[in-house]
Amino acid sequence: MIEFNSVSKSYDGGVSFAVKNFVLRVNRGEVLALVGESGCGKTTTLKMVNRLVSPCSGFVSIAGKSVLDICVQDLRRNIGYVFQGVGLFPHYSVRENVSAVPSLLGWSPEAVEERCSELLALVGLPLASFGNRMPMELSGGQAQRVGVARALAAKPEILLMDEPFGALDPINRAELQGEFVRIQKSLKLTVVMVTHDVTEAMLVADRIAIMKQGRILQCDTAAGLLSSPTDDYVTKLMKTPLTRALEVSKLVSAAQTTDYFR
Ligand SMILES: Nc1ncnc2c1ncn2[C@@H]1O[C@H](COP(=O)(O)OP(=O)(O)OP(=O)(O)O)[C@@H](O)[C@H]1O
Ligand SMILES: [Mg+2]
Repeated sequence: MIEFNSVSKSYDGGVSFAVKNFVLRVNRGEVLALVGESGCGKTTTLKMVNRLVSPCSGFVSIAGKSVLDICVQDLRRNIGYVFQGVGLFPHYSVRENVSAVPSLLGWSPEAVEERCSELLALVGLPLASFGNRMPMELSGGQAQRVGVARALAAKPEILLMDEPFGALDPINRAELQGEFVRIQKSLKLTVVMVTHDVTEAMLVADRIAIMKQGRILQCDTAAGLLSSPTDDYVTKLMKTPLTRALEVSKLVSAAQTTDYFR
C-alpha cells in the first residue's frame, strides 16, 4: 500500500541525513509503528508520505503511484494526519476542527454534523458538551482525542499518527489505544504510527520498525523482534517493557509480603 523506495532526506544540503536509504512496505490494513529515540527521523518519515516534507532522493508511493504524481490537496484530504503535539486549528471550535475537511470536500451540512457527532462520541467527547469549545479550553489529552477524530473525519484509508496518545494519562491512554484498534480494524485503515512507547507499539501495531539515526535497524512483528533481534539496540529496546514489568512485580510482591507480616 505505502512504499518507501530508498528514501533519503537531508535538511542541510547533504551534510547530515534525517532519514537515509529508508526502505519499507506498509501493507493495506496494517498498523506499522515507527519506534526510536528522539531525532532519529520518525516525524520526517511520516511527513514524506503526505508531502509535508520532500525527499532528496528516492520516493514514496501509494498503491504503486508516486505521491509526487498525486495532486497534493487530494493526497492530504485522503490521508488522515494526527500531528505530534496536537496541532488543532486554534481559532476553530472542536466542531469546526473535526468538520473542516469534510466541509472542504463538499459534504452536506447534515452529513458533516452526523460524522462530527459520531467521531466525537467515539473518542469520548460528546458533541453537545465539547463541540463549541475552543482548543485552548481543552486539556492536552482531550485535544489529542479531537486530533484523532479530526484525522478520521473524511474517512481516509490511510492514517498517519505522530505520538497520538502522548499526552494521555495511563488509564485514558489504554482505553483510547483499545478503541483505536477497534476503529482501525472496522475501517480497515492502513496506519503508520510514531511512538516512543514500546509497550504501545507491541499492543497496537502489527509490525514495528525500529529506527536509529535515520535508518531502519529492524522491522518485524513484536514476537519476531523479541525472538530474533539482529542488533543490540533492538534487544535492549524490546526488553524494556518486560524488565519494567518485572521490577513492578517485585515491588508488588515486596509490598504484599510487608502487609502479610504486619
Ligand atoms: N525542518 C527542519 N529543519 C532542519 N532540521 C530538521 C527539521 N526537521 C527535523 N530536523 C532534524 O532532522 C532530524 C530528525 O528529526 P525528526 O523530527 O524526524 O525526528 P523524530 O524522530 O520525530 O524526533 P522526536 O521523537 O523528538 O519527535 C533531527 O536531527 C532534527 O533536528
Ligand atoms: Mg517527531
